Amino acid sequence: MRLAPTTRSLVPANRVQHTCVQLRDADVCGALALSSIAGWNQTDEDWRLLLELSDACFGIRIDGEVVATATLVCYGRTMAWLGMVLTHPEFRRMGLARTLVAHVMEYAEKLGVRTVKLDATDEGRPLYESFGFQAEQRVERWQRRFAPRAPGSGALAVSGRVTEITNGFDPDARACGYDRKQMLGCLAASGEAVVENGGYALSRSGRLNRYIGPCAAVSPAAARSVIERTMARHPEAAWFWDLLPANVNAVALAQELGFECVRRLTRMWWGGEVRGKEEGIFAIAGLELG
Ligand SMILES: CC(C)(COP(=O)(O)OP(=O)(O)OC[C@H]1O[C@@H](n2cnc3c(N)ncnc32)[C@H](O)[C@@H]1OP(=O)(O)O)[C@@H](O)C(=O)NCCC(=O)NCCS
Repeated sequence: MRLAPTTRSLVPANRVQHTCVQLRDADVCGALALSSIAGWNQTDEDWRLLLELSDACFGIRIDGEVVATATLVCYGRTMAWLGMVLTHPEFRRMGLARTLVAHVMEYAEKLGVRTVKLDATDEGRPLYESFGFQAEQRVERWQRRFAPRAPGSGALAVSGRVTEITNGFDPDARACGYDRKQMLGCLAASGEAVVENGGYALSRSGRLNRYIGPCAAVSPAAARSVIERTMARHPEAAWFWDLLPANVNAVALAQELGFECVRRLTRMWWGGEVRGKEEGIFAIAGLELG
């Protein structure tokens, strides 16, 4: 399915036209400033990972400074994930986000991407709706602020078998319905992985809290095992965990492990609907990654 040919015309002609530029390593500092101002958890490592994964990380510069961004990570032609749609507070309501989203959608169109998805904040949602995105389901951010200290809980001697993930670890492809080996390999290489027969969990550092995800597993018991082992490696950490509440077992596990829901977002799709099997997804990879 092709994307609607109207994406560019969604930028009103009477607005000042801003040029979208490809973000480079030198822009990481400016991009990180934007996500930090918005109160997001990404680190410079996260931005660098996006640049490594994607040729479609765009920004708009005003007076040499990056003041707005949008990124697109492609999973083959089946799926692409739109994220990091950010505009500096001083430059909002000038059409910058609309220009960037139009640019990204045009890029996806050229690649022949079938479906574009994203996890929208309430603030971003009207923009995406105007591009024809439709709501799919809720996404929730859960947080564990404190770190309950279980006796004897320390770093466990567990080493993530990264190759199992990069070789297309079964529960992930089965749960998502598309191949994201490259992204998983990059995340596992820069963060940490716990891999067992029935599932895996990755984690990475964050600007505010450590982040757990993605986690895919064949059963709640398998998910619990890899998540508990992941957390035991960082007994002092506070955590973020983004999950799909449609997976009631993920919600129950998060509650049991002392997490609380702190934010609600909406997963949206454009193009052909590709719906994963939520019962196998215990943590998403990140709001910017899917
Ligand atoms: C959401 C955000 C990216 C919009 O950026 P922006 O550059 O101001 O957006 P634009 O000027 O291109 O506006 C695009 C549309 O978004 C909507 N919009 C933008 N700001 C809005 C607001 N404060 N309230 C309601 N709608 C808003 C409008 O529908 C607007 O349409 P218009 O062209 O008819 O005015 C910006 O407010 C932001 O960075 N927010 C914090 C981070 C965030 O939530 N990002 C979205 C992630 S999914």
